[in-house]
Parts: sequence; structure tokens; C-alpha cells
Amino acid sequence: MIVSEYRKKINEAARFLADGLDLRPTVGIILGTGLGGLADRIEKHKIIPYRDIPHFPESTVESHAGQLIAGHLGGKAVLAFQGRFHFYEGYSLEEVTFPVRVLATLGVRTLILSNAAGGLNPLFKPGDLMIIRDHINLMGVNPLRGPNIEKWGVRFPDMSMPYDRALCAKAEEVALASGLPVQKGVYVAVSGPSLETPAETRFLRMIGADAVGMSTVPEVIVARHAGLKVFAVSVIANVNLPECMQPVSIEDVIATAGKAEPTLVLLISRLLKAMDD
Ligand code: HPA
Repeated sequence: MIVSEYRKKINEAARFLADGLDLRPTVGIILGTGLGGLADRIEKHKIIPYRDIPHFPESTVESHAGQLIAGHLGGKAVLAFQGRFHFYEGYSLEEVTFPVRVLATLGVRTLILSNAAGGLNPLFKPGDLMIIRDHINLMGVNPLRGPNIEKWGVRFPDMSMPYDRALCAKAEEVALASGLPVQKGVYVAVSGPSLETPAETRFLRMIGADAVGMSTVPEVIVARHAGLKVFAVSVIANVNLPECMQPVSIEDVIATAGKAEPTLVLLISRLLKAMDD
């Protein structure tokens, strides 16, 4: 990747959106596999297919719509990406994190992410929501590798608090007040697309992870580099126990994510309402 070209592409995509939207978004949302329904709750201002945005990668996963929804949710001006780019699809991490750079360039201050993940904590059940409190990057790559663009952030961004504590606390408060059960935990990102063996599952649990998935961490690293506040939630689509592993199918993952989605939608929209600007 040539850094100056990447920067130019990000700026052109951001300019296209800034010119086309008479809305100044403060919150960006990236929706995970089977979790696009939050977009239906957005008081719609505009829907923009990814293919209309200059230089935007095209979404290849069928369960992802590949469009950007700009509007209001919980009283906040939001830009929601319905369909994300995964490393396992063959995208580079510059492509995976393209939406985050565009959001940062547009002046968005908070990023909310959702994903479907495999539970590793034996106390979790399929359909649970897990507020991500910390992560482990086991993708074997980092989106900030290569020349650093000083205008975007520092060379060695701090990761002592990647997930905003105040937002996590507020989400817990909102969940409690709304009677929504939520778990909290550590998300480990692997590159995929093959799922974990029993030995890998045991290893991931031993190193302190509560859930495993194939996304989110690159976006969070870039968001923190850009100084955005981050809040992320996993929908636990399946639970993997190393001593009694069950086959995992993408159909089941999507079906379970879909069932948990109304709770996720409630949590995020109420969190947005309770959030300061
Ligand atoms: N492993 C990795 N990613 C996942 C899983 C899993 O079990 N379930 C949903 N995404």
C-alpha cells in the first residue's frame, strides 16, 4: 500500500459523504454478521450503497448488506455500516479498516461495533450479549503496520484502555435498568475462516478470552489510533467447550445472532440515548 494514495482515497470517500449528507454524524456504528437489523431502527436520512462511495471495498459476505445508513438513533446523528469487511475474505487490513478511517476523517467521535462470536466462557449461553472489555489480537497482523500517518495518530498508540470505561459502565446501567441480561469479557480475534479445533479452543480460554471471533479488533485498533472512543458488543452465537466440541455452522451462527438481535438493538439504542454527545 502506498500511504499517500490510501490517505487520498480516505479523504475522497469522506468528502463524498460530507457533501452528500446534510447531517454531521457524531457516532459511527459497524454491524456484525446477522446483526444488520439495527439499521431498520435508524430514522433514515439516507441509504448509500458501498459501491457508490469512492474507493470503498465491496462487501462479499451474503449476510452483510453492503450499505451505509445515515440518520438518527437515540437522538444522535449516526452513520451505520451494514456489512463489514473481514480479513478472511481476502481484504487487506487497510480495506477492513477503511470505514473507520472515513468515520474519523468525518469527525465522528465514538465508534460502536457489534459482532457474532463463539463463546469460550463455560458460563455463557448461545444468544447472550457480551460487552467487550478488552481484547487479544491473535490475527497475526496489525492494521497499523507500515509507515505511520502522523496526522491520523501516533506511531505507538496506547492500548491500556481500548474500550471506553464510561461507555461500558453506561451500557451496564442501561442494561440493568431495561432488564437486559449482559455478560462482560475479553474478545480474542483470530484470522479465520476455519473455526477452532478443541486444542485451539482450550488455548484461547487459557490465555484469558471469553469469546472468539474473526473481526472487530482491527477496527478497534484503528479507532484508538484515531482517538475515537470505542464500545463493542459480541452476540454469543455458539459456545465452544474443548472437552465436548460441537460442529459450528454459519447458518446456526446467523440464526442465533438474529434471535439475539432485538436485545442488541435495545441495548445500543438506549445506550445512544443515555450517552453524552
Ligand atoms: N469461532 C470463531 N468465530 C466465530 C465463532 C466461533 O466459534 N462463532 C461465530 N464467530
